[in-house]
Amino acid sequence: MKSFTFILSYVRKHRFGYAAGILTLFVVDFANLYIPKLTGTITDGLTARTMDWDGVVSCLIAIFVLGALLALGRFLWRYFLFGASRSIEREIRGDMFAHLEEMSVEYFNERGTGDLMTRFTSDLNAIRMAIGPAVICMFDACVMTVMVIVQMMYYVNISLTLLAVVPMFLICVGEIYYGKIMHRRFLDRQEAVSDLTDFVQESFSGVRVIKAFVRERAEFYAFAKQNKRTMDQTLRVVRLQAVIMPLLDVIIGLSILVTLIYGGYLALVGDITLGRFVAFNQYVGMLIWPMIACGDAINMFSQGAASIRRIREILDEKPEIRDTDDVKEVSDIRGEITFSHLTFLHRGHSEPTLKDISLHVPAGTTLAIIGRTGNGKSTLVNLLLHLYNTKPGMLFIDGKDINTIPLKTLREHIAYVPQDNFLFSDTLKSNIAFGTEGEDMDAIIRATRAACIHESIVSFPDGYETIVGERGVTLSGGQKQRSSIARALIRNAPILILDDALSAVDTDTEEHILKNLKKNRAGKTTILIAHRISTIQNADVILVLEDGEAREIGNHESLMKTGGIYRDMFEKQQLEAKREGLSS
Ligand SMILES: Nc1ncnc2c1ncn2[C@@H]1O[C@H](COP(=O)(O)OP(=O)(O)OP(=O)(O)O)[C@@H](O)[C@H]1O
Ligand SMILES: [Mg+2]
Repeated sequence: MKSFTFILSYVRKHRFGYAAGILTLFVVDFANLYIPKLTGTITDGLTARTMDWDGVVSCLIAIFVLGALLALGRFLWRYFLFGASRSIEREIRGDMFAHLEEMSVEYFNERGTGDLMTRFTSDLNAIRMAIGPAVICMFDACVMTVMVIVQMMYYVNISLTLLAVVPMFLICVGEIYYGKIMHRRFLDRQEAVSDLTDFVQESFSGVRVIKAFVRERAEFYAFAKQNKRTMDQTLRVVRLQAVIMPLLDVIIGLSILVTLIYGGYLALVGDITLGRFVAFNQYVGMLIWPMIACGDAINMFSQGAASIRRIREILDEKPEIRDTDDVKEVSDIRGEITFSHLTFLHRGHSEPTLKDISLHVPAGTTLAIIGRTGNGKSTLVNLLLHLYNTKPGMLFIDGKDINTIPLKTLREHIAYVPQDNFLFSDTLKSNIAFGTEGEDMDAIIRATRAACIHESIVSFPDGYETIVGERGVTLSGGQKQRSSIARALIRNAPILILDDALSAVDTDTEEHILKNLKKNRAGKTTILIAHRISTIQNADVILVLEDGEAREIGNHESLMKTGGIYRDMFEKQQLEAKREGLSS
């Protein structure tokens, strides 16, 4: 029922298309009925010799005109109804995409990409079938049936008509039961398709790992298993259809046989004329299609309902991170950040990732975060971006609780270089200009120069037009990192976050970039996450995270003086550098 109201809300917008389509369908069905009547008239006229050649010709012309009208009508109802169902498909797809964009990062962590993709393709297709072809089949079948029956009763013989109609009731009852089973089986099938798509998507994304570990065979066997499961589930659907169709044929065949015998008898004893018997035969023939169409429609409705359920599952999910009622519009963000006893627990973890962190970062300063891997550095900056929810009173920007700042404003004022430098399948130019309006070449070059990637880019044969990402050339780790630094720098935001963004560049380049940063970021807040002391030693404040706690806070000199984790790290890294220096 909910599926029905859901789809109705879309159908309502296209009610004129549907009304026009159904009206033409009605006219076509109606006009269709006149053909048997005309052939009946000709037969009767010729048998009784009451019709001359002119009469036959005019009847034939009428049949021809009717036929032409029918063709036009059939085109029109297709145009209206298929057009409306395609539009609805587009609208649902648009709503799904817009909705998914609102969902939190966590939501995507927990859901398979392939599963979402299946819902976008195969499920939407099933829905379109249910609101287009199925509606037509159902309507057409009902109208045709009623009209044909009325004609048969009126024009031929009541008892003969009743005899032809009885099996239809049987078929209707059977089809409702069949629809229920089909719904269940189709849901199972869609789940299998989702899993298969997930599997394929992950295998292709992870193809480098699979090859490096020589797991192609193992991967293929795992795939074959999923593939088999999908086939089995599909076969369960097809098998049901395969059993139903011949059964339908048998019932239809039998009913035609019985009516023909009885009709023939009535014609023989003279209860009905031969012409009416001919017309009756055509009418019975006309009833076959609606019966099959009904079966098809129920099939498509059940599958569509199953798919609507799967799509509503997505649309009904509320975005976890959204602007609450406490949100107040802010015109600008200066970049002052305050952590106040910040504690954060990742979903599914028993221990908090971040524990009781208190720190003030004045606007315009540089904060560096250092700490062993898995200690919560990325988590901390993700909280700043409001990718996860923070409890009220723990994180303030410009003195305002992060929960009261509109998400859009917040994120527009933060430039972010994520740890995994994802680039889109597009030109380098578009990738770098990603967060800005238009593609201002001067600004792009300024950013790429600051990120020390301009020289590399111009040395590519296609320069800034080089396509990167999945469908383009592969950049080296360091080139990717620097491109994504440029992408962040071009935004010139009051807060810049670099999450381990210099890990893949050599120390000389690193020094260069840091110098440029110092110049470009004067008066703006910058957050640097790194493992190398060399990256961060000039920062105004250094936060050392250990087991999610803020173990040490200070600048390079003060931390060196205190002597603790930071000094240990520094000395170890110095020693390593010396050793490398000696060996080279
Ligand atoms: N989305 C998530 N859901 C659940 N746990 C997560 C999630 N992201 C990170 N974690 C966990 O939080 C902890 C801290 O991870 P985080 O990515 O913040 O570490 P990190 O300090 O950035 O490490 P690295 O230096 O390796 O980048 C880890 O134990 C990790 O398993
Ligand atoms: Mg990290």
